[in-house]
Amino acid sequence: MVFCCELKKVVDDTYDIEIGHSLEEKLVDDLKHGLTGKKRFAVITDSIVEGLYGRDIYEKIVAAGFSAELFVIPEGEKSKTRQMKEFLEDSMLEKGFRRDCAVIAVGGGVVTDLAGFVAGTFGRGVPFVNYATTLLAAADASVGGKTAVDTPLATNLIGMFNQPAKVYLDIDTWKTLPKVQISSGLAETIKHGCLGDKELFEYLEKNVDKVFEGDVEACEYIAQHNCEVKYKVVMQDERESGLREVLNLGHTVGRAIETVSDYKLFHGEAVSIGLVAQARLGEKYGFISTEDRKRVEDLLDKAGLPVRIPDYIDREVLVRKLYTDKKVRDGKLRFVFEKGIGEVVQFGENNFAKEIAEDEIRDIIKDM
Ligand code: GLY
Repeated sequence: MVFCCELKKVVDDTYDIEIGHSLEEKLVDDLKHGLTGKKRFAVITDSIVEGLYGRDIYEKIVAAGFSAELFVIPEGEKSKTRQMKEFLEDSMLEKGFRRDCAVIAVGGGVVTDLAGFVAGTFGRGVPFVNYATTLLAAADASVGGKTAVDTPLATNLIGMFNQPAKVYLDIDTWKTLPKVQISSGLAETIKHGCLGDKELFEYLEKNVDKVFEGDVEACEYIAQHNCEVKYKVVMQDERESGLREVLNLGHTVGRAIETVSDYKLFHGEAVSIGLVAQARLGEKYGFISTEDRKRVEDLLDKAGLPVRIPDYIDREVLVRKLYTDKKVRDGKLRFVFEKGIGEVVQFGENNFAKEIAEDEIRDIIKDM
């Protein structure tokens, strides 16, 4: 006997991304107007952001009459683990959280990736909101619904697509970022320029210093352009069945080197090295001219990012680590390539990644 359990779904995961300055009150106001449909909140932040913005947001939520608890994880990529997810879940359960709650993630990419994943499985799923406090989170991590944890083998291998109820990109929070974190966020920004926004790339060539100076117009410009590149891709291919792979530009070598460095390299620094490796490989294939490849390297350098592989990285270990990439198919490495600056190369219907022989990328890595 066969029963058909018909479960056709119409899903509307539409959400707003609000870009602005000091958006804490706006968040609380939105919660009052039923943004998540919940009145109990788990505010998740890290040990640095807690004192800067996390506790303040938590206190504002409590002052507005809601029930809330603050959960703080140690700062840094090494917190993005299954163990930390378990710690947060157990802490929430101990504080009496059940399905009648929502998660408010306040922080950078580690916090938003982890908190979004916690929200996705807590009580089989509760709503969450991202309040991004870094350029990296604003450029990439907090938008698009990719949530995950790292494992000892590699980054982001365990996770889920889970869209937030809303994303707040608070540009004022970038003022408290160390220079290295601005650089890290600029790597994802330059990536967006390379893959889909020539105007953004050229703007950065002229104005990257202004981002470090906290120039409001420059910061707003890059926040808007990052968002536009990213959501246009995600709206077409949320689950990365094809087009979304373009957002992986530079990440094949980038993610691998981030793990091999044992997270001594920040995510953006690793992506920068990955973008250089990809551009050099692309130059070999004729996808990008030597002149444009140099422009990419120069801009990354100008943004304070590494464009060479540090000496302490074992090149062979790095080549082996490339196989942990999620784009690998049938055991073959696949790379996304920019076409000149501002476009990507398409390799067939819905295919944006090219199979690469191991020796070809090994040669590039050895030269870097
Ligand atoms: N960070 C790449 C993506 O969101 O698809």
